[in-house]
Amino acid sequence: MNSNIRSEIPQLLSLIKGLDMDSAVKLLADKFAGKTVFSTSFSLEDQVISHAILQNKIAVDIFTLDTGRIFPETYSVWSSTNERYKTQIKAFTPDFKTLENYITEKGPNAFYESVDNRKLCCHIRKVEPLKRALKGQDLWITGLRAEHSAARQDLQMIEWDEGHQLIKFHPILHWTTEEVRAYVTKNNIPYNTLQDKGFVSIGCLPCTRAIQTGEDFRAGRWWWEDDSKKECGLHEQTAPGGAK
Ligand code: ADX
Ligand code: SF4
Repeated sequence: MNSNIRSEIPQLLSLIKGLDMDSAVKLLADKFAGKTVFSTSFSLEDQVISHAILQNKIAVDIFTLDTGRIFPETYSVWSSTNERYKTQIKAFTPDFKTLENYITEKGPNAFYESVDNRKLCCHIRKVEPLKRALKGQDLWITGLRAEHSAARQDLQMIEWDEGHQLIKFHPILHWTTEEVRAYVTKNNIPYNTLQDKGFVSIGCLPCTRAIQTGEDFRAGRWWWEDDSKKECGLHEQTAPGGAK
């Protein structure tokens, strides 16, 4: 545990003020050298950040949570990203024993039957592997954006994550969808081809659908559940503003 770094958050916020994304990521990665990681789901947002890290050779370990249920198109963009940047994005997979027991007991598609089953599946396939991925780290970079949802509008670019006892950094929190798309096009960054078919927020295949014009950004995620329950638990432990 390294909770003394928490007190540095106000100073870090002022240090990155006015910096462009690349410079802010570099500054914080240098500050937390060897203890900075970036989680990618290969979303458009995450591809922007991966490009900034890999193109500029910023020392950040990039990992993905391979739930075992992601889209073939997501595996394709993972491969093309590895090829384009000559890198090997690290995979974290679910604990196989726990997963075997869950699938055997509940069946392969139990997430449709109840919110509890769905949350348990997300816990086994994402939340627990994330915990392992973040162990011992000081800085966790994510591709969260304020435009994604009402809950995300209250975030700050740098925050304290009480559950994981580290600092979270959202370098493109205030970018618009248009800015993200323009950056991907301008830099010819590999992207998930589902983006061209109405999928904007992409998670696991059985829990993601395309959205119609006018629908919310995250309307295609766990669409059969209430809006209030639509988080998988990856981002539930953040204290806004660094305060508890
Ligand atoms: S989620 O909580 O609904 O699943 P979302 O898809 O909006 O999250 O992605 C927000 C951020 O969470 C991403 O930018 C990325 O940093 C992280 N993230 C989400 N899913 C994954 C994944 N499968 N692997 C690694 N990081 C992920
Ligand atoms: Fe399981 Fe769906 Fe959560 Fe993926 S998004 S971990 S398939 S419940």
